[in-house]
Amino acid sequence: MSNRVQQDIVQQLQQLQQDAETALAQANTNESTREWYGQYLGRKGRLTGILRNLGNLSSEERPLVGKVANEVKVVLENALQERQAAIAQAELEAARRAESVDVTLPGRTQNLGKLHITTRALRDIYAIFTAMGFQIYDSPEVETDEYNFQLLNMPPGHPARDMWDTFYTTTPGLILRTHTSPGQIHAMREYVPEPIRVILPGKVYRYEAVDASHESMFYQVEGLAIGKHITFSDLKGVLINFANQMYGEGRETRFRKSYFPFTEPSVEMDIDCVLCGGRGCPVCKYTGWLEMLGAGVVHPRVLEYGGYDPTEFSGFAFGMGPERIALQKYGIDDIRYFYTNDVRLFERV
Ligand code: FA5
Repeated sequence: MSNRVQQDIVQQLQQLQQDAETALAQANTNESTREWYGQYLGRKGRLTGILRNLGNLSSEERPLVGKVANEVKVVLENALQERQAAIAQAELEAARRAESVDVTLPGRTQNLGKLHITTRALRDIYAIFTAMGFQIYDSPEVETDEYNFQLLNMPPGHPARDMWDTFYTTTPGLILRTHTSPGQIHAMREYVPEPIRVILPGKVYRYEAVDASHESMFYQVEGLAIGKHITFSDLKGVLINFANQMYGEGRETRFRKSYFPFTEPSVEMDIDCVLCGGRGCPVCKYTGWLEMLGAGVVHPRVLEYGGYDPTEFSGFAFGMGPERIALQKYGIDDIRYFYTNDVRLFERV
């Protein structure tokens, strides 16, 4: 009877070994090998369960069964170690594959940003005027009525104020500057009695009916030269030189008589419309010309407000719109694209 029990247990051990080996072959992760250990070799595992029956054997039979059980245990423990090593190796290789760099693949191109068109136009303008000896002068965007109008020869109620539709603030007398011309007074009052050659760039604000060539916030670059014996021909020479450098030689320019209360005589300078070749289009309002800037000889009263004696000093001034210049230079057909943040505009130029 006990011989049969012995054989039974040995058979169970052999079956256990077989089952355990099959199961181990399917364990592919450390987690599953831990589960496997618990199931076959752990304290509550099948091997322990079988060995509990050793008590039913005689003391002669027990060593043989004990030996077989021990062999099964050693075989399975070795198999477990091998399996764990194989899993570790496979994980290492998978990690290496995942991290490996294929040096034969083409590189990823970086998406490089571009300067805003206004910034490019401004920098071109700065370069041309600084080469002619002009310095860059900063002046405030929030101005007083006095600087924006009165000191530019437009006392309260002057009809020329209507040329600039103004944004007022809730503080009386404080406005958003409608042009960069008030900077002329700031520069004169700082430099008097020295001669001056400055450009004054910056944003200006107008309560405009916005269209293809009019924005309500746009840039201007003012120019001011003060000295002795400065004439209108100096102004023309500087502006034609500027236009040739900005657009390339050969573009047509024209000067039209105009009116500004702070210059006398006053002109507007136009350039032939690059978009329609002078035939007429919405941007040039079907005239074939696009207004580039306003200019003139500084009015004697403005010189006086700036602190200069008009019997001794004279000067010229101009104010241009860099966006208008960029429209022409890059052949863009609507000024409203500039500040709507559509980057496709920058890819075009
Ligand atoms: C003035 O603002 C004068 N201060 C210019 C000046 C300076 C004259 C010094 C004499 C001496 P005007 O309003 O024309 O002038 O504007 C000057 C330039 O700004 C225009 O020629 C145009 O290039 C640009 N500009 C005017 N209005 C707009 C607008 N709404 N949107 C974009 N650009 C504009």
